[in-house]
Amino acid sequence: MATVGQLTAGVAHEINNPLGFILGNLDCASDYIQDMINLLNLYRQTFPQPGEKIEEEMEAIELDYLLEDLPKTIDSMKQGTERIAEISKSMRTFSRGDTIAKVPFNIHEGIDSTLLILKHRLKANENRPEIQVRKNYGNLPEINCYPGQLNQVFMNLIANAIDAIDESNFGKTFTEIKSAPNQISITTEIDNAKQQAIIRIEDNGKGISESVKQKIFEHLFTTKGVGKGTGNGLSISRQIVVEKHEGKITCTSELGTGTEFVISLPNN
Ligand SMILES: Nc1ncnc2c1ncn2[C@@H]1O[C@H](COP(=O)(O)OP(=O)(O)OP(=O)(O)O)[C@@H](O)[C@H]1O
Ligand SMILES: [Mg+2]
Repeated sequence: MATVGQLTAGVAHEINNPLGFILGNLDCASDYIQDMINLLNLYRQTFPQPGEKIEEEMEAIELDYLLEDLPKTIDSMKQGTERIAEISKSMRTFSRGDTIAKVPFNIHEGIDSTLLILKHRLKANENRPEIQVRKNYGNLPEINCYPGQLNQVFMNLIANAIDAIDESNFGKTFTEIKSAPNQISITTEIDNAKQQAIIRIEDNGKGISESVKQKIFEHLFTTKGVGKGTGNGLSISRQIVVEKHEGKITCTSELGTGTEFVISLPNN
């Protein structure tokens, strides 16, 4: 798991430099283009009859449309680049180096960066609409924890929820799924009396049978095909929550309806 974190941090770091100069140059380019557009407009006002050759060329390149569209084109490039910057930032938050001691951490930031990294799996595809993610974030203080490891737990639980949802969609049409949408709910709250944070991750996927539920936290237990699951996710998550953080992780599920994982973390 350390290697996943290192790889993520490394990729994010490498992306940042070229991203910086694309963003910087786009700003410059957009100023230059605006200057040229202004100059061109000035020419057109000053010389309303530029002659046949120029008029023909203006028509051929659809100048009026071009002038209107060019700034929009640059804008959408900027948006795309800013989006990459946002993803790269999330990757760095996500892979925040494993600290030797616990540090105060904003759990919501961790969940959000995990969701962004998993965005490609949540978005619509040819078989189903986008999976809806509902966030009900409570008023959590920063929690003393090992951030990199907790993010790993969020990643495992949300990835499992997506798998369970995709499996529940099997045999259903796009329209059927749309009318009973795929959903993941993430709820956080603070239990002041016990000084602990509670995080619930709930899905309306295929659910877990009683007999499978007995084994889900076992090392290498999986119901997924070769290449799809290794059976590591929940056993590692249990280890991180229970052994590293002295917390609890529990699962309630109903076959065919959905599953909820609840994590409670003492804030000490
Ligand atoms: N949200 C869920 N809904 C339904 N079944 C689940 C859910 N989460 C876990 N499971 C069941 O628990 C099993 C173990 O999960 P775990 O995350 O440990 O392994 P995996 O997802 O199969 O593989 P890996 O996480 O290593 O890629 C899964 O194979 C699946 O059967
Ligand atoms: Mg898993």
